Formats: sequence, C-alpha cells, structure tokens
Amino acid sequence: MAQKKDKPDNLSTRAGKVRELEEKNNLALKGGGERRITSQHEKGKLTARERLDLLLDEGSFQELDRFVTHRGKDFGIDKEQYLGDGVVTGFGTINKRLVYVFSQDFTVFGGSLSETHAEKICKIMDLAMKNGAPVIGLNDSGGARIQEGVNSLGGYADIFYRNTLASGVVPQLSAIMGPCAGGAVYSPAITDFILMVENTSYMFVTGPNVVKTVTQEKVTAEELGGASAHGSKSGVTHFSCANELDCVEHIKKLLSYIPQNCEEEAPSIPYEHKGEEIREILDELIPESPNQPYDMREVIAGIMDTNSFLEVHKDFAENIVVGFGRLAGKSIGIVGNQPAVLAGVLDINSSRKAARFVRFCDCFNIPLLVLVDVPGFLPGTDQEWNGIIGNGAKLLYAFSEATVPRVTVITRKAYGGAYDVMNSKHIGADLNFAWPSAEIAVMGPKGAAEVIFRKEIASAEDPEAKLEEKVAEFSKKFANPYTAAERGFIDEVILPRDTRGRLIRAFAMLQNKVDSLPRKKHGNIPL
Ligand code: HXC
Repeated sequence: MAQKKDKPDNLSTRAGKVRELEEKNNLALKGGGERRITSQHEKGKLTARERLDLLLDEGSFQELDRFVTHRGKDFGIDKEQYLGDGVVTGFGTINKRLVYVFSQDFTVFGGSLSETHAEKICKIMDLAMKNGAPVIGLNDSGGARIQEGVNSLGGYADIFYRNTLASGVVPQLSAIMGPCAGGAVYSPAITDFILMVENTSYMFVTGPNVVKTVTQEKVTAEELGGASAHGSKSGVTHFSCANELDCVEHIKKLLSYIPQNCEEEAPSIPYEHKGEEIREILDELIPESPNQPYDMREVIAGIMDTNSFLEVHKDFAENIVVGFGRLAGKSIGIVGNQPAVLAGVLDINSSRKAARFVRFCDCFNIPLLVLVDVPGFLPGTDQEWNGIIGNGAKLLYAFSEATVPRVTVITRKAYGGAYDVMNSKHIGADLNFAWPSAEIAVMGPKGAAEVIFRKEIASAEDPEAKLEEKVAEFSKKFANPYTAAERGFIDEVILPRDTRGRLIRAFAMLQNKVDSLPRKKHGNIPL
C-alpha cells in the first residue's frame, strides 16, 4: 500500500509543525512498508537503512533528499508515493573518513530507478567529486522504473556519465546486494570495485528467460550471474562475500588501503621498525627443481606486514595474484605471477585482471610491488583467436604508463615477452631485484637448446645426451640473474631473506617520486 499523505491538525502551531516533520520522518523510515520489509528479511536481505547502519560509523550519517518523491504520471503510479523514492542517499564516515553513499530500497517499487531516484544519486556523486571522497553504492534494484520509460533511462545515463567523469578522481565501490540487471549493470562496471553477496545477488545484461529464448540454454539467475559466476568465470566481481555483513566488512577493509581521492596519498598505519627485517622463511620457498610449483601467496605473506594482504579477484585468473598489502604500515599494490596455477603463465584473463589493478593503483597513488615467476604467454588457438595480443598489451601498457613507485622482484622465471611486460626496468620500473634462483632469458633452457642447436643435436651420435649438454650450456649462460645484472637491468641480486628489508628501503627512497607522461589528451590503451 502506498504511503498516505498525513495532514496533521493544528499545523499552524509550533507543536503541530514539529509533529508534521516527525510523521514525515517516520513515514520515510518505513520505506515500502512493514509487509515488504518482512519480505526483504525473508529473502535473507537487509533493508537499505539497515545496511547503512552497518556500513557507517555510528551517528555519522547525514541523509539528503529524504522527502523526494517521484514525478511519474502513467499507469496509476502517481497515486503511489513513497518518501525518498526507493533510494537512501547522503554522506557519513567509515573509520572516521568521509564517504558518500547511496543505498537502494527494494521495498519501494523494487528499488527501481526513476528520474528522481537518479537525481538523488547524481547529487551525492557531484558532492563527492567536489569534495574528494569515495562513492559507495549499495545496489538492490529491479532496474529501470518501468512506468517512467525514457525518463528512467535518462537517469541511468546521467549516472553512467558521472561514473566515468569520477573514474580516477575518487574511488567508486559498488556492492551488489540484490538484483542488478539490464543496462543497470554498467554503472557498477565502470566503478573501481564490485562486491557481490553469494546467493542473494545477481548481475546480467539479459536474464535467464531471455537467454532461454535466444540461445535455448537453461540456467538459473544464480548460475548465470551470481557471485560465484562473476567471481570465477567473468571476473566482473572483485569480491564474492558470504553474506551482507561480510560484504560490508570487505568494503571497510578495502577502503583502509586506498586514499580519499587522486590528490592524496594512501593511508598508512604506524609501524615500529624491527632492525634488519630479515625473513628466513623466504629462503625455503623456491623448490630445487625449476618445474616444481610453489604458492606466490607464501612469498607475499613472507614479505608483507603480518596478515596485511587483501586479495582482489581471488577466484578469477588464479595464475596471477593481485591485492593490497602493507609494508612497514604503508599501503602497497601487489601483482605476482602464481606458479601454483598454470605455472604462472600469462594469458588473456590474467593480463586483464592485472592491468585493471595496476591502473587502479596508479590512479590513486598506491605504489606497486611486482613479483615475477613467469614462463611466458600461454600458447594456443583459444588464446590467439580470443585476443591474447591485445589483452597482453593491456598489461604492458598499464605498467608502462604507471608513474607510481614501481619495484620488481624476480623470484624465478622471467622468460620472453613476459619478462618485459612484468614491470621490467625497460618499461619504467624504478628498482629491480632478483633472487639467486632467477632465470632471465628469451625462453626456458630446453626450448632454447632445441631451437638454436637443432642441427647439432639432430646430427649427434646420441641426440639426447647432446640435448642435455646444450641445455646445461644454455642454463649456465642464461638461467641466472647475472647476465641481466651485468647490464644493470637488475639493480641487485638479493637473498630472499633480505627482500622485506630491501623493499621497505626501496619504497621509502621512492616516496617522493615525481614522474610525468608526455603531454597528450589521453593515451589509447588497447581496450
Ligand atoms: C517498477 C518494479 C520494477 C521495475 C520490480 N518492481 N521491478 N517496479 N519498475 N523495474 C516492483 C514490483 O512490481 C513489485 O511491486 C516490487 O517491485 C517487488 O518486485 P517482485 O517482482 O515482487 O520481487 P521479486 O519476486 O523479488 O523479483 C524481483 C525482480 C522482478 C526479479 C527484479 O521484480 C523483475 O523481474 N522486475 C523487472 C525487472 C526488469 O525487467 N527491469 C527492467 C530491466 S531493463 P509490489 O508493489 O508488488 O511490491 C533496465 C534497463 C536499464 O533496467 C537501462 C539502463 C541504460
């Protein structure tokens, strides 16, 4: 039932005016009414206001536009008015830092977006841009308000436009806590991070019914566009969260690593320096055989401040690991090949994943640490036909254009084009270290020997023995960090145990780095 417009008596008296305000406030707080709130809870979802209560510091929320109502006239919607029009907007603080928020209210027309609903969101986005603070959207919406037609579509476009202008100026986070379908997905898609709640949220351009009609595929909404599908298959979501509380906690944690806007430094937390910062555990991590895998996350844990790593895109393109961590209290973006998955090879998805992360860190002044153990790019028709060339180039471009402090550590393999791409000195890295186990070459010793000594091996009395001999010869020459170090492509070959100390010193040295790109309107990243 629509909210009834209450007309209190004695409006002319002071007490009557106060009562009128109270009643309006009470009405607004009820959203679409008790029945729909109960239905929301029965679906395992919180209401828009309950979510904001969890997200923001207690008592910090300043709501705006609580009494805004829609202007729709068609299909009887003019007789149904709800104060706030299906979205709660305003500003508040998270861990005492200013944020702008909108939280869609599914109890009002299914959280659908009307012209005025969009205006409310645009208002807080404009404020966020002028005042330099993140925008957090809690999405739970049936999409365009059907009764409003093109006014609603225009409202979406107004938001998309602002998302684009705000990109790289203030961080934008989108939590998906219910439906997000059709063109509505494109606002979150432009923002920096998407978080989805497992089992109660989904995102797709066309839903299961349309899919069935067009492609005859039978899928559920969860299979098609749930947190698991987007967390592992498409990479659309950066975080899959077990429930809404977990989602809110992820937002808070993520914000703790990132600055308020592109003019500020990332926040750091106090750190007491501990002598040489030696981590002996790192000496044990690289297996004796170069073909044996190990987990790059253990290297990250060994280097960074204890329990400080927040992995982004954990279940997507697992052959590369990206995320935020702290080094001596300072926020650092980490990109590392993952030898434990597909030998850490670079492919289309891992290149896209890392490139997007590098771009984010560079937008927001977060220094980059790159850990390299990469056998090259993944071969095959699938990769070639789906564009490994263009996608691999994204990562190359992202690193080359990044002006934040950039430090590389080659732990083991750095082969072929992937050596160049993974933050090599040649594309602007500031400091490059290598462990004694590093192998820097055009390709692995066996492949190399087979190419360059092909005739010699074929004509040998014992080709296998010859191959072995040539592999050993090649390994001696190239499967080490010293040829690169002789050229200055590696600044120092270091013991794994010393890595943390060296990196703390390196990033301290680079903290006032100033670098700029040639004057241009904007570059043309291979999209
Ligand atoms: C107006 C809507 C609405 C919408 C839901 N409601 N979606 N009202 N416009 N888009 C209303 C319902 O009428 C209902 O009102 C209430 O919200 C809750 O909806 P239910 O269907 O009862 O809820 P549920 O069963 O949970 O289903 C949720 C849903 C479904 C899957 C989102 O409502 C649905 O399919 N809605 C239509 C989605 C859609 O096609 N949207 C347009 C997509 S195109 P009462 O009064 O009963 O509470 C689009 C283009 C964007 O968005 C383009 C941007 C460029």
